[in-house]
Amino acid sequence: MASRVIPVAPFDLVIFGATGDLARRKILPGLFRRFCDGQMPGEARIIGAARSELDADGFRALVRAALREHLPAPRRPARKLAAFLERVSYCQLDARGAKGWKALKGLIREDVVQAFYFSVGPSLFGDLARRLKQHDIAGPEARIVVEKPFGHDLESARALNATLAAHFEERFIYRIDHYLGKETVQNLMALRFGNMLFEPLWNAQYVDHVQITVAESVGVAGRGAYYDRAGAMRDMVQNHLMQLLCLTAMEPPSKFDPDAVRDEKLKVIRALDPVAPGDIVRGQYEGAEGVPSYREDVGNPESTTESFIALRLEISNWRWNGTPFYLRTGKRLRARMSEIVIQFKEPPHSIFDSPPGQGANELSIRLQPDEGMDLKVTIKEPGPGGMRLIDVPLDMTFAEALGAEAAEAPDAYERLIMDVIRGDQTLFMRGDEVEAAWAWTDPVIAGWEARGDRPLPYEPGSTGPEDAAILLHRDARRWRELKA
Ligand code: BG6
Repeated sequence: MASRVIPVAPFDLVIFGATGDLARRKILPGLFRRFCDGQMPGEARIIGAARSELDADGFRALVRAALREHLPAPRRPARKLAAFLERVSYCQLDARGAKGWKALKGLIREDVVQAFYFSVGPSLFGDLARRLKQHDIAGPEARIVVEKPFGHDLESARALNATLAAHFEERFIYRIDHYLGKETVQNLMALRFGNMLFEPLWNAQYVDHVQITVAESVGVAGRGAYYDRAGAMRDMVQNHLMQLLCLTAMEPPSKFDPDAVRDEKLKVIRALDPVAPGDIVRGQYEGAEGVPSYREDVGNPESTTESFIALRLEISNWRWNGTPFYLRTGKRLRARMSEIVIQFKEPPHSIFDSPPGQGANELSIRLQPDEGMDLKVTIKEPGPGGMRLIDVPLDMTFAEALGAEAAEAPDAYERLIMDVIRGDQTLFMRGDEVEAAWAWTDPVIAGWEARGDRPLPYEPGSTGPEDAAILLHRDARRWRELKA
């Protein structure tokens, strides 16, 4: 099965913060892979912009080093690399001052797609947006791309939205949540709305509960200053887990179109119930031999920020009334594993004298590692001896089912950057969606702050605090095993 790569239109992409970590780790390697795949047309240009005193050759050397560091050798053939670097240039510029903007204007073409990637802290978003218009660099159809964190709470998110809106229309603002670019996340929509099988059962009548897990085995070393102010709730739940929840719970949009999809996601967020204090478990990892504790990682011996969170929540609408959604995410856990699990109910009556729980189908959608889906079904155990039932998995690991094509699937950033050039906002968050997510998050955080709750310690390499398991035991349920 050969994959179809359709080149995008010629473009000028300016990366502000081009010497930073995200640009080197994700944006530049992603662009290079799209170039190798033939998706980036010959007339495309990438312009790095940053404060560092570099000329174009100096920046190309940085790009070359970044690709070497973040792509395996077979993925960066020398001939392609040379051709890619010809499309790269650099502009030294000061986001807060006048320096460099005139030069940048000289580098931008008017007759191609213009995209400006703000790979910088949110405090610079306003300056960049203003100067792009003030110096007449961004044309009427120019797009801007902004990264998370999009605000620290509802108030700051509103202020950011207002700042951007003063210079760019919403249809030109691309707020990245890289989870939406993950292959399996989009597959969730394909599964739900491209098949007949699941959607009729996808509701409170047939679904017992839903589990969403995003577990990481790494700690927060190196990002302590940001993370200690954010914590797992702001860093992961408000955005990535919320997006997974929305795609799982939303109504079918009338078409696969940016506003139709985002309208449905927004309705889910607005229908979320407030979370009761007893339905939240916060944790913070301890140290072990050779493994620093969270407090050591962030350099704050008094920190009460959570590196783990588990929540039980409900959605007040017809489809989901009374169906719990359990969310958990954390650092330094036993395994790196992200999945969404739809646990169906048992058949209403067993004619086979089955033990409790048998016949309760389980659909798991694995985001990482080994992207794929797995459906647990009950069948007759082969052989004589009467009607004994067993549960077996109908496993579809994409790499096995689709071969090389799945293994070569673009990474989240590659796909999202190409969507920006195509002008497709479906997989980007709209301003009102981000605000609604904060409007739900803020009272949860305010609640534990007012109560003075402290996170519970958990051992590195574990599944989080014991109370997270109790959160489900209370409802006579269990978390899925955390394994890579
Ligand atoms: C980022 C968070 O948005 O997502 C990080 O800030 C987290 O804390 C990362 O580690 C996880 O992304 P992925 O793609 O590795 O699951």
